[in-house]
Amino acid sequence: MSYTLGLVAIVERLKKILQPHKNHSYYHLICGEHGTGKTTLARVASSEVGRGVIYVDIPADLSDLDEAFGKAINFASEKVSVTGQWFNKIKSGVDTPKLSECGKALKTFRHASELYKARHDKPMVIVYDNVSHLVHKNPEILDILRDDAKHSADDRKYIAVFVCSEGSVPQRMESRSAWSRAKTPVMEIGDLSKEESMEYLIKKRNIKEVDAKKLFDLVGGRIIELKTVADDFLAGQEFEVVKQEVLNKVEKKFRSAQLLPNDLYYEVGKRIICDLTKSNELRFLAFKKYFDKAKELDEVLGSNVFSYHPEKNIVTFQSRSVEFYIHENADIFPVYGSHFKIIEVI
Ligand SMILES: Nc1ncnc2c1ncn2[C@@H]1O[C@H](COP(=O)(O)OP(=O)(O)OP(=O)(O)O)[C@@H](O)[C@H]1O
Ligand SMILES: [Mg+2]
Repeated sequence: MSYTLGLVAIVERLKKILQPHKNHSYYHLICGEHGTGKTTLARVASSEVGRGVIYVDIPADLSDLDEAFGKAINFASEKVSVTGQWFNKIKSGVDTPKLSECGKALKTFRHASELYKARHDKPMVIVYDNVSHLVHKNPEILDILRDDAKHSADDRKYIAVFVCSEGSVPQRMESRSAWSRAKTPVMEIGDLSKEESMEYLIKKRNIKEVDAKKLFDLVGGRIIELKTVADDFLAGQEFEVVKQEVLNKVEKKFRSAQLLPNDLYYEVGKRIICDLTKSNELRFLAFKKYFDKAKELDEVLGSNVFSYHPEKNIVTFQSRSVEFYIHENADIFPVYGSHFKIIEVI
């Protein structure tokens, strides 16, 4: 991980969140699109803070969820420096045979946080990373974690930090009363600026300025995409091949969002794309008006073509590469032509 990318300020901001004062009474939400570096930065900040921070990585495959909580329980005993019998019992499930790993973990965290607070006079922090994995397949677990986070914040026990990649997470969280204990505005980790991106490509990856500019124009400042195109380019791929791969990836997102011709959301998508291209962003309410049902809105918003920014309450395109794809496919997404009528003057 490089510190040359102007990321020091973000890591410092995260470290402040991870070291709450004694009477802190909120939980936190950290958002950002897929691949903006949230996990990398959260891990760096967690390990720099060290003691008192428990990191839980929610897996993409939820059948591994039990294992993830199991790991977090082990982690808790390390990070809170409690190795007593109670933890060992919890780990082996001796006295809690009926609790699921999630319930067991929460029970452990609560106990650990009490011990931690008694010893250090400040609350422990639990970072739940990649919570977007829960929102579609197992939203009830997200609700349980979040309700527990609210109660713990109320009781000054532990402070939870949810790290998520999709607008559907803050939306689900905002819709419940527990939202009243979320720290707002939500912290958002975004793309690198043009300067930071060029610095990464030129200085860190040794790519010539002229090529770096072309790669940046293709994917913008999304670190995961910059890294991929830089890797491919340095491996000797022609720019045209790199570009085609980016377009193919975006097309898959459009396909899963059902936004391609003859798909369910093609017509509505075309109108949204046209309006977004003109204004760059839509107020969330304006975006909502395109849909009759909340489920449809969730489906389109959850598929990584558009993205919701809770901090500003707006919707934008998900990435520069999405915009690039639209531009390259002006025949199926006629952005400029559709609103102009030719009026014949006699
Ligand atoms: N500062 C950095 N410098 C170089 N590469 C980075 C940096 N930050 C992240 N990356 C790389 O970008 C990729 C995505 O990073 P990361 O997994 O942290 O993103 P994320 O925001 O957590 O993604 P998701 O939303 O999908 O969970 C990783 O391959 C990582 O190695
Ligand atoms: Mg992540």
